[in-house]
Amino acid sequence: MKQSYVGIMVNQSLYRKLPSGRTGYEAPALYEEAAEQYGLIPCYFRLTDIPFRNRTMRAYVRKGNRYRKETVEVPKVIHNRAIFFDKRSVRKAALLGQAGSMLFNGWNRYGKLTVHNWLSNDESLKPHLPESRLATVKNIWQMLRTHDSLILKPDNSSVGIGVMKAELIKQSVWELLMPVGRFGKGRIRLVFGSALPRRLLARLRAKRYLVQQRIPLALYDGRPFDLRVSVQRDESGDWQITGIIGKVARRGAFVTNVAQGGKVMSLETLLSSYPQLDAEAVKANIETLALRVAEHLSIRLPMAADLGLDIGLREDGFPMLIECNGRDQRYSFREGGMLEEWKATYRNPIGFARFLLDSAERLAPSDEEEPGER
Ligand SMILES: Nc1ncnc2c1ncn2[C@@H]1O[C@H](COP(=O)(O)OP(=O)(O)O)[C@@H](O)[C@H]1O
Ligand SMILES: [Mg+2]
Repeated sequence: MKQSYVGIMVNQSLYRKLPSGRTGYEAPALYEEAAEQYGLIPCYFRLTDIPFRNRTMRAYVRKGNRYRKETVEVPKVIHNRAIFFDKRSVRKAALLGQAGSMLFNGWNRYGKLTVHNWLSNDESLKPHLPESRLATVKNIWQMLRTHDSLILKPDNSSVGIGVMKAELIKQSVWELLMPVGRFGKGRIRLVFGSALPRRLLARLRAKRYLVQQRIPLALYDGRPFDLRVSVQRDESGDWQITGIIGKVARRGAFVTNVAQGGKVMSLETLLSSYPQLDAEAVKANIETLALRVAEHLSIRLPMAADLGLDIGLREDGFPMLIECNGRDQRYSFREGGMLEEWKATYRNPIGFARFLLDSAERLAPSDEEEPGER
């Protein structure tokens, strides 16, 4: 196996931390461990480091136990771990392909509603998708009249910020729970009847929201839980399930995000409160759903390779898709003590990089070959 670089495109914040080795939630050492196995050398850089004229660039490479800046050839295969917030960056990333590099997991920041609409084209997925619409005043009223409980969330949010709940409390009277304050740590309760609360309307004007049927999530210790499912492509080039970890909401909360006080727990523990369910079958159904979602998304995003799905369970064990993340936060596996799965979340993208390099080589035989040799 020829040694070559695998690019890891990171955000500024991780890039800055590399020389000190204090990389917080990210564990690049696990990329290096995996890369050794696949005959690759990881090099780390930002989108802005990529040159479009030269064939070389500056990137961090591990030497001993330190990261040092080196001049490297622009890698033929690049795993994206950054999030691009603006259109210019997205365009620049897209140009990489034309410059001869394969960028995978370039997915970034597709709105939740867009993804929902893509997925709802697949009949077999439809029963697993909560009804979702753009949160216009008209759509909210329509949904309030047809469901007892709704979630309103920013189309582009993450880590549970800004998620609201609206619920029917008696005939024609609804209650809205709305996070307030920095990082949404506080919460207010607004009761309304004939008109939507002004504070809600102000939020809808400030940002694009979607309104979604609230899945009556299964409970553990009286608290709702859902699951983070890591689905990745590995060295075989195919999607597979890397791991499943549960997240239980803080007491009294309706979001399970760890950033909002949720706690990670194993699926087995969570299902122990439902002895009537066949835990193996529930798990198999979650996996089937996750793989189907990944397969369907790859129609739109052929280079997607690393997804973190939020999947909720109804009390009868039926899995419902809550959200697809294009940049999985892998540390919940470490927090939950699932170290093998945690390591695998780093290993699989490197394995997939190997797969891409090998496939490219098979398609385009190298120039070193003697003419007429075949
Ligand atoms: N339709 C829903 N039904 C029940 N709970 C939901 C629903 N949508 C979101 N939640 C809860 O809120 C959390 C955050 O919502 P999510 O869509 O994952 O957005 P974020 O990007 O902020 O994580 C979920 O993990 C889940 O606990
Ligand atoms: Mg989420």
